[in-house]
Amino acid sequence: KIIPVIMAGGKGTRLWPLSRASAPKQFIQFVGDRTLFQATLSRVSDPTLYEAPVVITNEDFRFLVAEQARELGIRLSGILLEPVARNTAPAVAAAAAFTASRFGEDAILQVLASDHEIVADEGYFGAIRIARETALAGKLVTFGITPTEPATGYGYIEIGEALETGACKVRRFVEKPALAEAEHMLAAGGFAWNSGIFMFTAGQVLKEMAAFAPEVDRAARVAVAKASGDLDFTRLDAEAFSASPDISVDYAIMEKTANAAVVPSSFTWSDLGSWDAVWKLGTRDAAGNVATGKATLVNTKNSLVMSRTSHLAVQGLDGVAVIASEDAVYVGRLDDSQNVGALVKQLAAAR
Ligand code: GDD
Ligand code: MG
Repeated sequence: KIIPVIMAGGKGTRLWPLSRASAPKQFIQFVGDRTLFQATLSRVSDPTLYEAPVVITNEDFRFLVAEQARELGIRLSGILLEPVARNTAPAVAAAAAFTASRFGEDAILQVLASDHEIVADEGYFGAIRIARETALAGKLVTFGITPTEPATGYGYIEIGEALETGACKVRRFVEKPALAEAEHMLAAGGFAWNSGIFMFTAGQVLKEMAAFAPEVDRAARVAVAKASGDLDFTRLDAEAFSASPDISVDYAIMEKTANAAVVPSSFTWSDLGSWDAVWKLGTRDAAGNVATGKATLVNTKNSLVMSRTSHLAVQGLDGVAVIASEDAVYVGRLDDSQNVGALVKQLAAAR
C-alpha cells in the first residue's frame, strides 16, 4: 500500500490577507465546506490503496492538523512537527526517514501538497497506479500537467522517452523559470507543469538526498533519530533540523537527479497559490468578475472581489483583486499576484 505524506507547513503568503501566519491557506475554507487540507486527506482515504497518512507540518499548526483530521474521522500514521520552516526538501527527507524506520526502506510514499484543488476522477487514480509501478522500479515520479500559459510559479518538466510502465523519463526539470524561458518552453512544446505531487520509495529518495543535498539528508536523519514523541505528535530534534539548509525538494533533487520520471496526466488540477489562480478557478459573471461575500461592483470587469465582513463597493476597475478579511484589506492588480508574498514580507518587517 501507498503511504501518503502530506506537506502542510507552508505559509501561503501570496494569499494574504485571507491566508494568515496563524492559519495559512491549507487550513481555511476557500470554496465548499472543507479546507484544502481536509480535501487532500479525503483523496488519500481509500483503504484498499492507502495506509493512514503521515502529515509533516510546523509546530505552530499541530492543533489545526489534529483537529481537522479528527473532524473527518480520519486516523493518521503520525504528525511530524518541524521546529522551524526549512522548505520542502528537509520536510520530505524527514518524512522519508520517519516512514523508512516504521515501514521499511521499500515503503512507497506519495508526497502531496496540502493546498491544491484537484478533481480525483478515474484519470487521477489511473495516473496514481502508473506512478506506483514506476516508483517500485526506483524512479522519482512526478505528475505532469499540460501547461496552458507561461506561468512562472511552477516547475517545468521536459518529457522524455516512454518507460514500460506508461510513465516517461524526465529529460530536464526546470523549477520556476523566468518568464522568457517559460514562454520558450510553452512554444517549443513537450513540457508539462510539475503538479507538486511525487511518488518514490523512502529508500530511493533518501539515497538521492544523500547524493545531491547531503546537508539536508544529514539534518533530517539526525532530527528523526533524536525525535521525541507523545501519543499524537513526533517532534523533530530542534537543533538537528534547524541545521538544514532552506531549500525546496525541486531545487534540491528534482533538478539534479537522473532518475526522475513523469506520468503525463489529464486530471483537473490547480495550485490555488495566488489571487489570479483563485480568479481563474472561480465562477465568473458576464463581465469576468468573481465576487464572494458582500460586494457591489459597478463598471468593473475581470476582477476578484472577496469579503469576509465589510461591504465592498468597487467602481471603474479592470483586472484587480480586492480582498477584505476581518482585519485587513488588500488591493492590487491581478497580474501582480505573484508579488503579494514580497509585500507581506515588507508588512512583517514594518510591524
Ligand atoms: N512541512 C512543510 N514544511 N511543508 C511545507 C513547507 C515547509 O517548510 N513549505 C511548504 N510546504 C508545503 C506547502 O504547504 C504546500 O502544501 C507544499 O509544501 C508545496 O509548497 P509551496 O510553497 O506551495 O510550493 P510551490 O507551489 O511554490 O512550488 C511547488 O509546487 C508547484 C505546484 O504547485 C513545486 O513543486 C513546483 O515545481 C510545482 O510546480
Ligand atoms: Mg504551492
